[in-house]
Amino acid sequence: MNGFVTRSLDEIRFWSRIMKEHSLFLRLGFRCEDTQLIQEANQFYSIFEQIEAKSHAFTANADPRQIEAFNAEVHNAASHIWVFKRKVLGLILSCKLPGANNFPLLVDHTSREANYFRNRLAELNSGQLEPIHDAIIDENVFFLKIMADHAKFIGHLLDPSERKLVDQAREFSHDFDQLLWQAQDLSSMRPQSQTGPLLSQFLDQNRVSVASLRDFKKTARDLIEACRIKSIIHPLLADHVYREAERFLEIIEMFESSLTRNAPPDLSDWH
Ligand SMILES: [Fe+2]
Ligand SMILES: [Fe+2]
Repeated sequence: MNGFVTRSLDEIRFWSRIMKEHSLFLRLGFRCEDTQLIQEANQFYSIFEQIEAKSHAFTANADPRQIEAFNAEVHNAASHIWVFKRKVLGLILSCKLPGANNFPLLVDHTSREANYFRNRLAELNSGQLEPIHDAIIDENVFFLKIMADHAKFIGHLLDPSERKLVDQAREFSHDFDQLLWQAQDLSSMRPQSQTGPLLSQFLDQNRVSVASLRDFKKTARDLIEACRIKSIIHPLLADHVYREAERFLEIIEMFESSLTRNAPPDLSDWH
C-alpha cells in the first residue's frame, strides 16, 4: 500500500463529487436566459463526473506515476472551475445577473473549496508537505470558515416562517464565527502557540462544535428529504454540507490521534 496513492484517491473521490454538485447548484441558481453560463456549468458537471468515476476505477495498488498524472489532470480541472466560479462571482457583484439565485458568499465559498482541493493536489504531487503543527491550525482555519458559512446559508435558505430552525442556524453561525476568531488568534501566536496541550485543547473544542453542527445538518437533511419543513434548500445541498462536516470531523480525529500517539507526531496519516 502506498500512502501517496491512497491519500490522493481519497481526496479526489471526496472533492470531485463536491465539485460536480457545485456545478449543479450553480446551474440551478442561474436565470433561464443565462444559457452560456448554464452550458458551462453542465460541462463542469460532466468533467467532474468523469473524474469521480475514474478515481473509483483506480485501486490502492495503482502505479504512483499514474496517480501523479491523474492528480495533475484533476488539478487542472479544479483550477478551471475555480476561474469559472470567480467569474460568476464578478458578474453577481457587478449586478450583471439580477434575479439570479446564488448568494455571492455561496459562490465565493465554493471557489474556496475548489482552491483548497487544488492546493491539496499540488501539495501531494510536489511532496512538499506541511508540518503537522501548521496543518492543524491551517486546516481548522479553513474548515471553521466553511462551517460558519454553511450555518449562514442554512439560516437564509430556510423559510423565514421556520423560526425555531432559523434561530438554531443563527446560533451555529455565531458559535463558528467565534471559533474561527479563536483559530486565527492561535495562528497569529505561531509558533509559540503550537504546544501539545494548546493544540489538543483546540482540536477538542472544535470537534465538539463540529459534531453538534453535523447532527443539526443531518436532522435538517432528513426533514428536507421527507418534505417536513419549508425551505428552498435542495435536498442534495443539505446532504452536501452534511458530508463536508463529516469530512472536517474525520480530519480533526486524525490530527487528535497523531497528537496523542507519539511526540514528535507521526506524519504518516496526514500525508
Ligand atoms: Fe461544497
Ligand atoms: Fe461547503
